[in-house]
Amino acid sequence: MTQSQSRDTFTTRWGFILAAAGSAVGLGNLWMFPWRLGEFGGAAFLIPYLVFVYVLGTTGLMGEFAFGRWAEKGAMGAYEKVLEEKGFGFGRLLGAYPILVLLGVLIFYLIVSGWVLRYLVSALSGNLLGAGPADVYFDQFAGSRDSIVWQAVGVILTGAILVLGISKGIERATKVMMPLLLGLLVILLIRSLTLPGSGEGIRYLLVPDWSYLQRPLTWGMALGQAFFSVSLTGAGMLVYGSYLRRDFDIPNAALNTVTLDTAMALMAALIIMPAAFAYQIDPAAGPPLLFITLVSVFQNMPGGQIMAILFFVGVLFAAVSSLLAIKEAVVEAAMDQFSWTRRTAVLWIAAVAFLCGIPLAINQGRFDRFVDLITVYLVPFGAAMAGILFFWVLGIGRARAEVNVGAEKPVGAWWEPVAKYLFVGVAVAIIGLSMAFRIG
Ligand code: TRP
Repeated sequence: MTQSQSRDTFTTRWGFILAAAGSAVGLGNLWMFPWRLGEFGGAAFLIPYLVFVYVLGTTGLMGEFAFGRWAEKGAMGAYEKVLEEKGFGFGRLLGAYPILVLLGVLIFYLIVSGWVLRYLVSALSGNLLGAGPADVYFDQFAGSRDSIVWQAVGVILTGAILVLGISKGIERATKVMMPLLLGLLVILLIRSLTLPGSGEGIRYLLVPDWSYLQRPLTWGMALGQAFFSVSLTGAGMLVYGSYLRRDFDIPNAALNTVTLDTAMALMAALIIMPAAFAYQIDPAAGPPLLFITLVSVFQNMPGGQIMAILFFVGVLFAAVSSLLAIKEAVVEAAMDQFSWTRRTAVLWIAAVAFLCGIPLAINQGRFDRFVDLITVYLVPFGAAMAGILFFWVLGIGRARAEVNVGAEKPVGAWWEPVAKYLFVGVAVAIIGLSMAFRIG
């Protein structure tokens, strides 16, 4: 098969793990996780979260990696390949679904990355801290025309990495960004934990309020958060898997990815909450936490400018490394579908994502509704679909065999019912749960 010889691949074990962790660690960790933890009982939320992320996250993630590697294609080609085997011709059409969802994720992620870039630049120039009330600053900027320029910068930055391909683009970039991100988080963690008054925030995070575990919403939120954080959409991690060689250890990579993802989410919470408490700011502020609450923390903190710069560099790395994965899934699909070169595909996708983003970038209300629709309803459906195709249609026995190719410690027979019933069942249930509770 010429396909497998000409397809670009990840070159090293850690190169792949850092790229996958780069996809997983993103705004979901630095922005959503801390406020969800704050809203849903602190440490009590961690229990369902850790169970979901390890039991279901690793199972689903191994599935996506192995599905991509088996097909040597992204979602469209992979869905087609499974269904063709069974004599059905609509696989490509099904595969277009998660790709379109990821295009939606790409559109809003680029907008938020634009905000991050803008905050970083104004932190560097000193404007951010002297800008007056942080909420006024955010409101004036987000939802305005100004944000379009920054969105364009984000498009160009990620496009420039992606045209270089997998081993020379994504792998190299994430190999630099991820260790730096970890280092930045460690510095910020030390700063935050040594602020006078931060103990209250640590207690808030670590002393569980068990009553939250009796509320189904806590479980639903933990589940949704786990899926989003591990990037399970039935296309994003699948496309990374399609660039793996057959001697690569998938179970090990999935475990490492989830562990890095969880560690960085916990670090983010331990940075943000103690700082919020030290400055008597509402920890359950919700979505504005990152762009408003935290900025007023930096405004008040000694050495705030340096901390703000380090923080927004970290957020930028996290966002860009996720954007690479999201955009690559769409780019690969376009190359496959239209026989485009990588360069043409990157240019087209960048242009489409940028233009579709403009109506959202200039209207905050529309933006919020769009984000909810995508993350809460459309993303889990993609994860469910990939699970059904790989675990049910291809067959759970073959799926496990594929996961275990190249594995030093192959997954045992227990994995089959967990993947086939628990993972798929829960992925379907989460859609109903979200509708029932209108999460978002
Ligand atoms: N997991 C990333 C985060 O936590 C977001 C992300 C990356 C993603 N790739 C994805 C979300 C694919 C959905 C689908 O921010």
